[in-house]
Amino acid sequence: MASTSGRLTGILLSLTLMLIGKGEGQAPAPSPSGALNLTAILEKGGQYTSLIKLLKDTQQLTQIESQLKSNSQGFSLFAPTDNAFQNLKAGALNGLSDDQKVKLVLFHVTPKYYSLSDLLTVSNPVRTQATEEEGTWALNFTGQGNQQVNVSTGVVITQVNNALREKFPLAVYQVDKVLLPLELFGTKSHASAPSPKSSKTTPQIPSVAKAGGAPSPSKDDASHAPATNLAFRLILGLAFISISSLS
Ligand SMILES: *[C@@H]1O[C@H](CO)[C@@H](O)[C@H](O)[C@H]1NC(C)=O
Ligand SMILES: *[C@@H]1O[C@H](CO)[C@@H](O)[C@H](O)[C@H]1NC(C)=O
Ligand SMILES: *[C@@H]1O[C@H](CO)[C@@H](O)[C@H](O)[C@H]1NC(C)=O
Repeated sequence: MASTSGRLTGILLSLTLMLIGKGEGQAPAPSPSGALNLTAILEKGGQYTSLIKLLKDTQQLTQIESQLKSNSQGFSLFAPTDNAFQNLKAGALNGLSDDQKVKLVLFHVTPKYYSLSDLLTVSNPVRTQATEEEGTWALNFTGQGNQQVNVSTGVVITQVNNALREKFPLAVYQVDKVLLPLELFGTKSHASAPSPKSSKTTPQIPSVAKAGGAPSPSKDDASHAPATNLAFRLILGLAFISISSLS
């Protein structure tokens, strides 16, 4: 009996708190423990449905939220809008493995809090949460004058806009493009380099580097993994979109 009424009181209390929270109608109310609700921050932004879904699908939402409690440096999230996802070539995300999707998400997160003015002067490259054996995937930021910051991946460059939240330990910035990592979406160099890891073999001069003749793209393409082809076509698509939107 006692426990039932205790639970009831608890429910009523939470309902009341929820109503009070709604009544304020302001920024997502921080929970008593100080835990940040990333979903609420993004939902309030109103144009991050795809990102929220991707964060949930990859289980990174809870990861980031729980890591926020332990990472003394904080985090910054670069949040692509729904438009940014729509502008990706259809199937671009489906072409990624689950592991690659996780990396793509983590590539949008830095294990450090940066205010916008930090980003103006930060030294490149900036580590993200996406890592692999070969190293950490990084973003480059270029700032100019007052408050204009660009972020570049080597595949895409876009402006860092509008902060959804800019308060330690979490910064969330709008970006109008999905930040495509070079490691997943970059085109490899023309000379098909065999096993880049074996550094003790005699250095080989790539034939293409010297020759003035055009490299044979058809042969190159054939040797690439399907994912690379997809990525290449995606970049072509993006380039085409950018060009057509300029005119
Ligand atoms: C975070 O916010 C979302 C949306 O407002 C809500 O559905 C969810 O229950 C919240 N999570 C926590 C742990 O409070
Ligand atoms: C950011 O990118 C835009 C377009 O690509 C460019 O015009 C602008 O000069 C860049 N700004 C900085 C600070 O790099
Ligand atoms: C990022 O900046 C570093 C240091 O300036 C540079 O070496 C690297 O090539 C840049 N990468 C991209 C993708 O722009």
